[in-house]
Amino acid sequence: MNLIVRPGRPLQGTCPVPGDKSISHRAILFAAMAEGRSAIEGVLISGVTKPMLEAIREVGAAWNLEGRRLNVHSPGWPRWHPPATPLACGNSATTLRLLAGALAAAGVPATLDGSEGLRRRPMGRLIEPLQKMGVPIRGTEAGTAPLVLSARPLHQRLRALEIRLPVASAQVKSALLLAALAADGPVTVVEPQLSRDHTERLLHAMGATVETTLADDGTARHTLTPPSRSLSPFTLVPPGDFSSAAFLIVAALITPGSHLRLPGVGLNPGRTGLLDTLQEMGGWVRVLEIRERQGEPVGEIEVRHSPLRGIRIGGARVPAMIDEFPAFAAAAACAEGSSEVHGAEELRHKESDRIGALCEELRKVGVETEEYRDGFRIVGRRAIPGGVCDPHGDHRLAMAMAVLGLAAAGPIRVRHAEITEESFPDFAGVLQRLGADVRLEREA
Ligand code: S3P
Repeated sequence: MNLIVRPGRPLQGTCPVPGDKSISHRAILFAAMAEGRSAIEGVLISGVTKPMLEAIREVGAAWNLEGRRLNVHSPGWPRWHPPATPLACGNSATTLRLLAGALAAAGVPATLDGSEGLRRRPMGRLIEPLQKMGVPIRGTEAGTAPLVLSARPLHQRLRALEIRLPVASAQVKSALLLAALAADGPVTVVEPQLSRDHTERLLHAMGATVETTLADDGTARHTLTPPSRSLSPFTLVPPGDFSSAAFLIVAALITPGSHLRLPGVGLNPGRTGLLDTLQEMGGWVRVLEIRERQGEPVGEIEVRHSPLRGIRIGGARVPAMIDEFPAFAAAAACAEGSSEVHGAEELRHKESDRIGALCEELRKVGVETEEYRDGFRIVGRRAIPGGVCDPHGDHRLAMAMAVLGLAAAGPIRVRHAEITEESFPDFAGVLQRLGADVRLEREA
């Protein structure tokens, strides 16, 4: 499908955003790790969460969907059985990495595989520490998927260790903390900067507390002491996904005449770095009514069209907006002056090489960019000519380019736009209902 976005119409109204992807992934998997019946209301059912749902059935958790309520009934991770076939994780690194950690705890033999894109993503950062803990796991010679786990008897506990991650990663941290449930003592994961902490919050609610301490230099230490009891089942309503809201926030900021309200959005500080960035760029974005809901801060975001100025980003801001660089790039392209990002080499290992791909696609629509090893520069301009671009198999790149079309001088056509369904079901429909001139057209 092509998504054709034309400028000229403001976005207005109130719009709920889809359920949080990170929390939905965890809720599905952790419900299968708990013993008993869990329910997740408003779970994100999309391209990336479906493989997780299929996987938990394969290891012995039963589930059914009643509308948007997912009911899961599981014997608990120590009673998981080996899946009959390789677990297909699609494009979802979260599915693959978190499942690897959980299967490592369960000692269940399994193969984890995924799309061509997923097979290119680095897994050595997970395989090596798991092996050090005593998990019989291997990947390809290049340190990529497929990952193969061999059987390990449950009475053979994993080694209690301290593990230092070279890069902040919530997926790797989570996988190691899940494996730690089967360790013979406390396991500590140290990351150079704090990554999102949804795993720690949800595990706490299930009776497995992770102690986190932050050092002055920003280093975060997370220690899980294996609980003696099984994980408790839960009922959860995931908040709206800030990473999906990000596209609507940027859309409203850059499109003249826009004014949006986005209720029920998750505002975990590990996720909302883009809010601070946009405010520092001069954007009119307000957060109303923050409240704690089931261990996560949730609130309403209000945003109005406003002029933006360029900004420099680096340091701890990077992990706090790691998924938002595509949305940020659309904002930077419309800002007064240049914007620069440094210390974000990790972006090269996302659904696409988000440094190379963003720079390339922005240039196609007439925006001047410069690529660095660890970031990029974008020269903001008033009149972006528009053109045709390709999302490189990356849902967030597709949405960022589409949003830019709202504020360009001419239309932007995003090819292979069905990829947006990975995380934001009916993205085009949502923009349309808010007033945008967008059209889906079959690929010629
Ligand atoms: C995620 C963590 C992030 C993020 C990804 C989802 C998660 O990756 O980019 O989209 O749900 O844990 P890292 O593992 O690099 O932090």
